[in-house]
Amino acid sequence: MTWLITGGAGYIGAHVVRAMTEAGERAVVYDDLSSGIAERVPDGVPLVTGSTLDADLLSRTLTEHAVTGVVHLAAKKQVGESVEQPLRYYHENVEGLRVLLSAVTDAGVGSFVLSSSAAVYGMPDVDLVTEETPCLPMSPYGETKLAGEWLVRATGRAHGLSTASLRYFNVAGAASPELADTGVYNLVPMVFEKLTDGEAPRVFGADYPTPDGTCVRDYIHVTDLAEAHVATARRLATAPRGTDLTLNIGRGEGVSVLEMANLINEVTGYDLPPTVGPRRPGDPARVVASADRIAAELGWSAKRDVREMVASAWAGWVRLHPPRG
Ligand code: WQD
Repeated sequence: MTWLITGGAGYIGAHVVRAMTEAGERAVVYDDLSSGIAERVPDGVPLVTGSTLDADLLSRTLTEHAVTGVVHLAAKKQVGESVEQPLRYYHENVEGLRVLLSAVTDAGVGSFVLSSSAAVYGMPDVDLVTEETPCLPMSPYGETKLAGEWLVRATGRAHGLSTASLRYFNVAGAASPELADTGVYNLVPMVFEKLTDGEAPRVFGADYPTPDGTCVRDYIHVTDLAEAHVATARRLATAPRGTDLTLNIGRGEGVSVLEMANLINEVTGYDLPPTVGPRRPGDPARVVASADRIAAELGWSAKRDVREMVASAWAGWVRLHPPRG
């Protein structure tokens, strides 16, 4: 099989490319390099630089590389920005997907994996979120992911395409320092930034109905996440046409913000206890996956713990921000 990996020069996409090629699959990366980095694409993997809104380039790429499956990660992914710029998010994440699916069905591609998000659930009022938990996204970002799932599912049904929507929980870590996340938008890099500036990390709210009062999340190592894509891609490649999977990708274990901040101090050798500030608007108290379905469907489960996520993310951070002096 030859897999087109959109967003394959991004943080998560580059890990998916690496896992797919290590598993012996052929990969072609399609990325507009708006936030992707060309150097993340391994030697021997073709990089096509373009937008998922470019129907002609997509069609040519699918044909020229004889693509048989697509893993679609190219998307805008910042929740706050999506509130400010909903039109841009719907355009890139939903219209971009529609254009891509149109090229995919025209080219007769058989398998399609969509990068979705736990953001589709919004503020779930359950201990463990299953794929049956109602989807009530709280941001335009989450809405575009849910609409994307609908679009993929409907297209699969109508055109005999096998599809999967993978709902990522909180992704962290790196397979190697040069593949680390360069953005500072999530808890782990935000704590790194504070520590290396000599400041105490900030906890956004400690009055949630959780054991230590801080928000609880399900952190997943990006290498485990990438391996889940390989398992999904392989299943779709051999599944009956029209197969559709919706799968949570998490560890099924909740970790609080306070636990995470303390672990980061420990792993990095800092000793700056976090300070508690006000809640960040829109944050759910607890979002933890049930990872039972993916285990049953694909035999996949996460292998790496939170300490490995923090340590590998830190190695990437130090590479990008060498200590001064
Ligand atoms: C985690 C917890 C913060 C920074 C978001 C998206 C989700 C997905 C992943 C894309 C929250 C707290 C953070 C800090 C803190 N994105 N925090 N101090 O909000 O769970 O999920 O990113 O697919 O869709 O919603 O992740 O890493 O921003 O925050 O206390 O300096 O850490 O309030 O409780 P979140 P996050």
